[in-house]
Amino acid sequence: MSLNHEKFEKNIFRMGIWTAIVVSFGGLAQIVPLMFQAQVVQPLPEMKPITALELAGREVYVREGCYNCHSQMVRALRSETARYGHHSIAAESVWDHPFLWGSKRTGPDLARVGGRYSDDWHRVHLNNPRDVVPESNMPGFPWLSENLIDADDLAAKMGALRTLGTPYTDEDIAGAAASTQGKTEMDATIAYVQSLGRYAPKRQQATPAATVPTPPSSEPVTAPVDPAAPADPAAPAAEEARS
Ligand code: HEC
Repeated sequence: MSLNHEKFEKNIFRMGIWTAIVVSFGGLAQIVPLMFQAQVVQPLPEMKPITALELAGREVYVREGCYNCHSQMVRALRSETARYGHHSIAAESVWDHPFLWGSKRTGPDLARVGGRYSDDWHRVHLNNPRDVVPESNMPGFPWLSENLIDADDLAAKMGALRTLGTPYTDEDIAGAAASTQGKTEMDATIAYVQSLGRYAPKRQQATPAATVPTPPSSEPVTAPVDPAAPADPAAPAAEEARS
């Protein structure tokens, strides 16, 4: 046995090849089950694909490399959910081709940024970020206001996305040109950014009560509910237990 070991450990090429083989098994064990799981990841029932204008904005987002500085993936860590909101869920990204989760945060995560600022704020910010955030080192994208959206191209992209499984209807595709008529890339980028987090699960209420460990629902709740107390997630359970 010890002789066998020496065969591998004293020949770096043999060692390298066998290491690669062993590591690939680890990779297979992790990756293959995910491929099967991906088939069962369904969009949320209320989900609709992003509109033609938002899609045009997504194209700009990709072209300008916004994902190099911004992730779209809130991890399930307390520090992240406290800052950004509910962690990202797989269903939110089922129609993202390519996905834009990103891996670097020079700027903040954008997965939940929709609705956080007004369209006007974004317009000023994208034009020159320092006009609204003096210490910002994000570059300005002033040319977006000058370029009009290429509507024909957009319809073709929607068709391609449909091939990949995004449920665009014929009307969506036929209406792409009309709905983006006269819109600039700036309008589109803002529409896209405002769409981020549209189907995010609701943020858990950060009431003081929520930070106190609540008893598991199977335990009968006997303590009387103080009507003056702040809304407590355990309260409905208490109501049921008493009735
Ligand atoms: C070189 C890195 C970089 C690039 C590229 C970049 N950003 Fe930023 N972005 C930042 C930084 C840093 C901040 C934080 C300061 C600020 O608000 O300007 C930021 C902030 C933002 C915010 C505000 C987020 C918040 O929660 O306050 C939005 C929205 C945004 N960027 C959108 C974009 C879009 C859209 C693009 C591509 C067109 C883009 N960014 C490209 C670095 C970048």
